[in-house]
Amino acid sequence: MTSLVLSASRILLIIGGGVAAYKSLELIRRLRERGAQVRVVMTAAAQQFVSSLSAAALSGAAVRDDLFSLVEEAEMGHIELSRAADLIVVAPATADLLARMAQGIANDLASTTLLATDKRVLAAPAMNVRMWLHPATQRNVATLRADGVAFVGPDEGEMACGEFGPGRMAEPLAIVAAIERALTRSTIIPLSGGSPLSNGSPSRGPLTGKHVVVTAGPTFEPIDPVRFIGNRSSGLQGYALAEAAAAAGARVTLISGPVGLPDPPGASVIRVETARQMLAAALAALPADVFIGAAAVADWRVEAASDQKLKKDARGAPSLSLVENPDILAQIAATSPTRPRFVAGFAAETENVVENAKRKLSRKGCDLIVANSVADGSGVFGGADNEVHIVTASGVESWRRMSKPEVADKLIEFVAARMGSA
Ligand code: C5P
Repeated sequence: MTSLVLSASRILLIIGGGVAAYKSLELIRRLRERGAQVRVVMTAAAQQFVSSLSAAALSGAAVRDDLFSLVEEAEMGHIELSRAADLIVVAPATADLLARMAQGIANDLASTTLLATDKRVLAAPAMNVRMWLHPATQRNVATLRADGVAFVGPDEGEMACGEFGPGRMAEPLAIVAAIERALTRSTIIPLSGGSPLSNGSPSRGPLTGKHVVVTAGPTFEPIDPVRFIGNRSSGLQGYALAEAAAAAGARVTLISGPVGLPDPPGASVIRVETARQMLAAALAALPADVFIGAAAVADWRVEAASDQKLKKDARGAPSLSLVENPDILAQIAATSPTRPRFVAGFAAETENVVENAKRKLSRKGCDLIVANSVADGSGVFGGADNEVHIVTASGVESWRRMSKPEVADKLIEFVAARMGSA
């Protein structure tokens, strides 16, 4: 369960006062089981929702809540708290806490620590949908993004207050993934402000001025209105690639199959379900300079999906006739004259990984294949790490096992170098 990025990382978790605070306890568990060290600061309001005793027991360290505690400040002052962290995570980030962060108000331990830090900050907002959509909150979020604060969520869904819409805190595992992405970047925010982690496009990077299109996630091919053929792709690698490309300065279009991940900062996301929709979205996104097919596209679809839910009846099990889906990667690589200058695909193999990838490179007409093993026990599908071989016409590079965000950063660097703009 340990993750290469998280093990030995030091996370300072600031828990704000919201119903979602209970999910932060789960977040502490998830981080610790991946080897992270977690220190917790709670606001006074947070303690109305969860006890500092629970947070202390789960984090294995005393919880700080009082700026003016002589004992606590003597042990580790508020400045020290942020110095001793690689990343500060605010979860739940309430409307009030975001407002104070945006204004630079330092009136308790949490807000003072946030103002005093030079470390990257990741916020997981959670609040009522109207509070989230209020122009004041949106203004504060825009200010914080411009300051270099990264965001994960909020998700859309039914809320504790009975309303429906955006405002639910991201699920703990999605926050863990965002933490891994944040940790693979430099952890210090330059004093001049702004950072590649902010949602706007970064000022400059090796892919500035380039359009990068990424496909990610599975496709769902309908059998009837409620059933589908799908696969276990989590979308993590493709989302990390989209984020890395945006951080490198590119304009990014992410075409995503159904996954439960938050939009990566800096990417415009087009959500699709089927392979044919994904192909149409990919063709519509051209022209592009780079195309990366990271989606696990279903090879087949049901020839004639039923308009009505198939019923169990005396006729027995229905037989499904399948037809092949279009190969999106091959089609994009063959679009002339709009073929992107660099086309990359993935090859998830269970055997002869590199040999099969070499064949795929020429069969699909692309410039690079990222080959990995998804054999039983590799933990790649849905897992945090990936071990890949980079196959191009000029040879094979095998990279050590690393987190998916690290693979994404290195791959984007590699592509930028091949584009001659790194
Ligand atoms: O042929 P195979 O599915 O192994 O190829 C994997 C690569 O091709 C991935 O990059 C995937 O995104 C892409 N692909 C595609 N459309 C398909 C099948 C695969 O774009 N129908």
